[in-house]
Amino acid sequence: MQTIRSITKMPKVSRQLAARGKTIALVPTMGYLHEGHAALIKRAKKSADVVIVSIFVNPKQFGPKEDYKKYPRDEKKDMARIKKAGGDIVFIPKAIDIYPDNFQTYVTVEKLSKTLEGKSRPQHFRGVTTVVAKLFNITRPDVAVFGAKDFQQAIVLKQMTKDLGYPIKFVIAPTVREKDGLAMSSRNRYFTAEQRHQACCLYYALGTAREMVKSGIKDVRALKSEMRAVIKATSPKAKIDYIAFTEFDSLKPVSKASKSTICSLAVRLHNVRLIDNMRF
Ligand code: PAJ
Repeated sequence: MQTIRSITKMPKVSRQLAARGKTIALVPTMGYLHEGHAALIKRAKKSADVVIVSIFVNPKQFGPKEDYKKYPRDEKKDMARIKKAGGDIVFIPKAIDIYPDNFQTYVTVEKLSKTLEGKSRPQHFRGVTTVVAKLFNITRPDVAVFGAKDFQQAIVLKQMTKDLGYPIKFVIAPTVREKDGLAMSSRNRYFTAEQRHQACCLYYALGTAREMVKSGIKDVRALKSEMRAVIKATSPKAKIDYIAFTEFDSLKPVSKASKSTICSLAVRLHNVRLIDNMRF
């Protein structure tokens, strides 16, 4: 496995690989990898000859009061995990190279960035699309793999890929969960054991909604009300940021759940903001 830190070397290596007829898959990450990331790397391995995993904690996607400074980092462990999952190249750029002094060019997906997460985190998606566009330019992949865990991020990035005409196959891989249903996340480490259990409230609420839809209850108001009750029962201190039922690709709100509906929610728990989603 090769580690590349230089943003001038990385495109050279990609060009050489392409010249040798090798296809490239990119898995962008912010590090502190878990089994969810490993699954993306394994998925990437299936669709290209060479897998590049980028690690970059992107300052531009964190709000001023968010956890950029304390975001967990562990390069050594990440390397081992990437190697085990089948990654070939780890790309670890420096912030000063990605955002040189006087940086002032951003990529924005206008409409899809404004709803759901975008309402609570106004500059977040602008930071995500800008960094991923830069990573696409530097690593030149044929395939890019993202997780359904951050489904709005995936939808926004898919739109960006299409709108800017990147010749990249866009893959969205399923959410990997802990045994008890909690979606794996680098931020789960912030919890104590008791808080960690309460964090399952998102999964329980989604599961309840799924069962209700299966039994024929499709009215979104009824579904949301039951989800709120489940969250309160599991985690009385949780603050619900939003529960939304939308069309999968357009993110337009729906009043009746159907097969093309996705339910997503954000909950603040002991100062950690958790998101999750489910399709029915
Ligand atoms: P990060 O949170 O490190 O996530 C990297 C990728 O892993 C994203 O595509 C995310 O959706 C996926 N992922 C996270 N948890 C997952 C889980 N439990 N199951 C499946 N996939 C999971 O998302 C980012 O970084 C950044 O915004 C990034 C795209 C790298 C841009 O900075």
